[in-house]
Amino acid sequence: MIALSAVDPGKPTIDTLIVPVCEDRDLHRGFVAELIGKVRRGQSFTGESGETLAWVLPEEDATRCAVFMGLGKGADLSGETWRKFAGRAMSYGMGRKLKALHIAVPSAEGAGMAEADLIAAVAEGVCLGNHVFNRYKAEKKRQPVEMITLLTGPGAAKAHRSLVERLETICAGTRMAREWVSIPSNDKVPEVFAAEVAAAAKAVGLKATVLDEKTLRHKGFGALLAVAAGSDHPPAMAVLEHKPRGAKKTVVLVGKGVTFDSGGINLKPAGSQIEEMKMDMAGAAAVAATLITAARLNVPMRLVGVLPLVENMPSGRATRPGDIVKSYAGKTVEIGNTDAEGRLILIDALAWAVQQYKPDVVLDLATLTGACVVALGEKIAGLFSADEALVEAVLASAGRTGERCWRLPLPEDYKEQIKSEFADISNLGATRWGGAITAALFLSAFVEKTRWAHLDIAGPAYAKKGSDYAPAGGTGFGVRLLVDLLEQL
Ligand code: BES
Ligand code: MN
Ligand code: ZN
Repeated sequence: MIALSAVDPGKPTIDTLIVPVCEDRDLHRGFVAELIGKVRRGQSFTGESGETLAWVLPEEDATRCAVFMGLGKGADLSGETWRKFAGRAMSYGMGRKLKALHIAVPSAEGAGMAEADLIAAVAEGVCLGNHVFNRYKAEKKRQPVEMITLLTGPGAAKAHRSLVERLETICAGTRMAREWVSIPSNDKVPEVFAAEVAAAAKAVGLKATVLDEKTLRHKGFGALLAVAAGSDHPPAMAVLEHKPRGAKKTVVLVGKGVTFDSGGINLKPAGSQIEEMKMDMAGAAAVAATLITAARLNVPMRLVGVLPLVENMPSGRATRPGDIVKSYAGKTVEIGNTDAEGRLILIDALAWAVQQYKPDVVLDLATLTGACVVALGEKIAGLFSADEALVEAVLASAGRTGERCWRLPLPEDYKEQIKSEFADISNLGATRWGGAITAALFLSAFVEKTRWAHLDIAGPAYAKKGSDYAPAGGTGFGVRLLVDLLEQL
């Protein structure tokens, strides 16, 4: 819970006040500026990036402990600096199991930013940073802080109350996606995960249905079923719908939901991050959390979230390399590699969703290829789309939210790569080069007449190590980006 309050030095007593400090710029006024003056005179604190100093104040002071956090040079300040700072503040509080924390938010002039943007960034850093994934640990070393107060200038408290509430809702969506991704595969097999998502969706008023294995077989989801064939846990497809009265546009979001990707018969070898493949449903988690968030925010358009859920396992019943299966769209697919499973479940989900909902726009999120991580690293998603306006909109949202995307091409001539000798198309490129592109081109063959964008989130969906405003594990990447995007479309 975040409260906004005008700076009032005398009362009430503040146990812990977090104070951001720049090396070369005065961010604050009033009693906070005085505190900084004192600590600077002691020459023990400069404000360089990453520096932290906790200072116990004399008895007569209304503040018990001031914690100074360095931000570096004033010229380098950005929204991301403030998110990171607020995340560090929460990390400090969580590590000490503090119940309450006050943060001194600088004046807009001091920070060189519009007041709303500054407060938004700090609030986001607080909500995203105030999170631990410790449900599998008996000893909870860190605990979220219950009450966070942002001390702002007079007037700001009232003016930005609803902005902060909105951000709390959105960031709760990110945290929800993170948790789902971090849960181990043994506790989120397809039917279990589908039921959990449906329950969470219904709780906020979404329509939620789960198609079971029998239904999927009946409807002809041949590519999806081929991936699920090797597992003892049957597949499922969860469909969430937000349909506000008077909605004109329909947007479909599809998320890859492989609850564990062993690679199948093309079993992943050691060193291929097989032990992290519980994260292979991060696209589905982001889509579900986005739908839930959109319902809470009353986004004024019809939204459908489609989550194809499977476990990719080797067994005597598993699909073999070289097998040919019939996809939902009717095209046959030669399975060149059972580890290229994400695109198989996605084409069936995409083709079904386009036929069923006739959407204005379709987006899919998928931890699709290691090649995308090779190209863009672990923090940037690959964006594929032939629709210039849609690309612009996604990149603008990426800029605003800090969930970075980079456009990669869909070259027509590379389609040569996914031709099959025996079937209509192959799920494997003829060479290993440009793997993120051939995967995207494969998908594009199944959404030909609809405005569509594909986000390969294999890099940013999961973090082995925690960072300033995210614990280790699922990052919830995509939720803030998609919510921002939906409000632009
Ligand atoms: N889930 C993986 C992609 C992945 C890799 C996600 C690393 C996150 C981190 C995907 O199903 C996969 O295995 N892709 C293969 C495709 C190949 C067989 C054409 C890959 O990237 O190696
Ligand atoms: Mn795979
Ligand atoms: Zn996968």
